[in-house]
Amino acid sequence: MSSTTALGQQAIATLKGNDYGDYIVPTQNLYPFQWNWDSAVHALALHAIGDEKRAWLELETLLASVWDNGLLPHIIFHKPSPTYFPGPDEWQTDRTPRTSAISQPPLVCYAALHIYQNATDKALALTKLRQLYPALLAHTRWWYAARFDERTNLIFTVHPWETGRDNNPVYDAPLKAVPAVAREYERRDISIVDTAERPHKFEYDRYMYLVDFYKRTNFDTATIARDCPYKVCDAGLSAILARATDAVLQIADIVSADRPADLAANLERLKKGFATLWSDELQIYCGYDLIADQLIKVPAAHNFFALFGKIPTDTFAAKMDAEINRWLAMTKFGVAGVAPDSPLYEPRRYCRGPVWPIVNWLIATGLSEYGFTATADKLKQSSLTLTTQKGFAEYYDPHDGKPCGGTTFSWTAALALHWLKLPFAE
Ligand code: DGY
Repeated sequence: MSSTTALGQQAIATLKGNDYGDYIVPTQNLYPFQWNWDSAVHALALHAIGDEKRAWLELETLLASVWDNGLLPHIIFHKPSPTYFPGPDEWQTDRTPRTSAISQPPLVCYAALHIYQNATDKALALTKLRQLYPALLAHTRWWYAARFDERTNLIFTVHPWETGRDNNPVYDAPLKAVPAVAREYERRDISIVDTAERPHKFEYDRYMYLVDFYKRTNFDTATIARDCPYKVCDAGLSAILARATDAVLQIADIVSADRPADLAANLERLKKGFATLWSDELQIYCGYDLIADQLIKVPAAHNFFALFGKIPTDTFAAKMDAEINRWLAMTKFGVAGVAPDSPLYEPRRYCRGPVWPIVNWLIATGLSEYGFTATADKLKQSSLTLTTQKGFAEYYDPHDGKPCGGTTFSWTAALALHWLKLPFAE
């Protein structure tokens, strides 16, 4: 059996092992529920292996939890589990199934469009796209209604978890302005994963303060936008939203719906705001702290998602390609979570330095679409080498490839399948 075939079979077995029938969990114990942007990646892989019905079901299950106001929660707590903190009893949202009350990068819109465009069963794909369109539209509109800052033309997040890059150093300074939670709580993650590979107590104290803050507002969008002590515009999340907005505009045409002109206008405003995030010093777009009113000059890999968001001109994309190659020369396996020559770089601590397949895939997809196929191919090859040699870990040390964080991780397996089947295909 070729190593490619063996990798594919192991990846399918990993996804099946985490499959609960109508949704796939990221991994057992550490993340035992449905996660928003993970599920979009799972759907891409299910499509890549030819199970189109199951791919659409993954998206349907996720989108069934869109709130009336359009929020798509970052976690859907379908079944109780004692192994995760903070679970549904901490969030206390009054919903069935229970959910968290913050969101995550809206990759689901890209996934729905991609699966439709590459579907074998076109009739099924059109039916499903028509069925999902209202939820995709409502959720994309929610970001602009709930989280748009009129002054800067930027989208803001109210929790580091909303970006999916939790303890990345981009969020260090803004998080320092958040009070620590005053009550006791018990983390579960550090009884499953080595403490050295997870966020510190300092961050969790503030993560939990924010969870309690939303509860005090009764999850009121306007109050959260006005009073939240943490408001960060994230280049990674904003880029995925830009791509989502573009996808929803295309889906509107496909399903013959009225063109959502508000979204087209908002996308232009978002791109205008995004342009102000460029740092010549770092050769990358940055985050922005709305509370401190300043650019967050941290060289984080997810800032390269601008390429996936189709944000930069060709000139700026070329600058990023050069910068990515500069980073690649300092490690053995792919784009590290933070520039490896930054004093903030920690190669094994969660989002502060390790290589993440999701991050490398989003960057590679963007690079490929801009024509930087040689760099994109390096990322694809190093991700496939990592998974072949080290298994489907949550993340890896960029120097020796040590698997870190959760094991038998679904989106790592999913991306291997997506890459094996449809390399950089649109
Ligand atoms: C966690 O609990 O570590 C998650 O990333 C939150 O989504």
